[in-house]
Order: sequence, then C-alpha cells, then structure tokens
Amino acid sequence: MAQRRTIVRWLLGGGFSASIVSFLYPAIKFMNPPAIPEAAVNEVSAGKVQDLKVNAGKIVKFGSRPALLIRTGESEFRAFSAICTHLNCTVQYQDARREIWCACHNGLYDLNGKVVSGPPPAPLEEYAVRVRGDEVVLSKRA
Ligand code: FES
Repeated sequence: MAQRRTIVRWLLGGGFSASIVSFLYPAIKFMNPPAIPEAAVNEVSAGKVQDLKVNAGKIVKFGSRPALLIRTGESEFRAFSAICTHLNCTVQYQDARREIWCACHNGLYDLNGKVVSGPPPAPLEEYAVRVRGDEVVLSKRA
C-alpha cells in the first residue's frame, strides 16, 4: 500500500514538474530570442537628386541605421552615419550654420563629420555618395 502511494506521488510530482517546464520553456525562449545576424548593407538609394534642395539634409535608412545625406552644392553631396558618437542620438543638419548638430547634448560636427564642439568623442562615419542617373546612392567607404 505504501509503495503504491509512493508511485502515485512520484507520478503526480513528475506531471506537475512537466507542466511547469512546459509553461516556462516557451516564455524563457520568447524573452531570449536567438541572435540573428543583421544583413550587411553596403549600398542604399537615398532618393532622387531633385528631391533634396541645396543646403538641406535628410535622414535616410542605411540598413537598420539612420544616415544623414546633405546636399552641399548643386551637384555636391556628403553623407554620414546619423548616429552621434557620444551616446547614439540621431544627428541632424543645421542649414543656417551649415553644421551637423546633435540635440541630445549640443554636440556639433562640421561637414567633414569632424567634431567641432560638445561631448562627441569621435567623428561621424562618412559614407561615399554617387549620383547614378537621377538617383543618389550611399555606400560604405572601402
Ligand atoms: S548623444 Fe550626441 S552629443 Fe550626446
């Protein structure tokens, strides 16, 4: 009789444990998704030349990250990573001062991506810009 109770307790305990595991395993898997490597993007279209005025900038997507395209002249463009090197805020073009500004901590970069003032510790990553037909194309520098 005692042996039968032990077997029943063991079966119930095992079933309870299996239930707990079946609830917790999917929850833990969901909270810890597998690392999927980001697809490498080396070139993106930033739109048509005529869509960007001279002395204006716009944010475009470079893969999953923002890039800043600036039209500095009739046929001159500059492009940089739009991620501030201080604490990763998105920078923007200031047409009145012809500088790149980070609003988070007042970081300033020049049109070469070099730090002018503020806390950013390093220049912005610069991208190569080509005009292909009427399309502006950004690419990573080799
Ligand atoms: S994050 Fe850009 S200046 Fe701090």
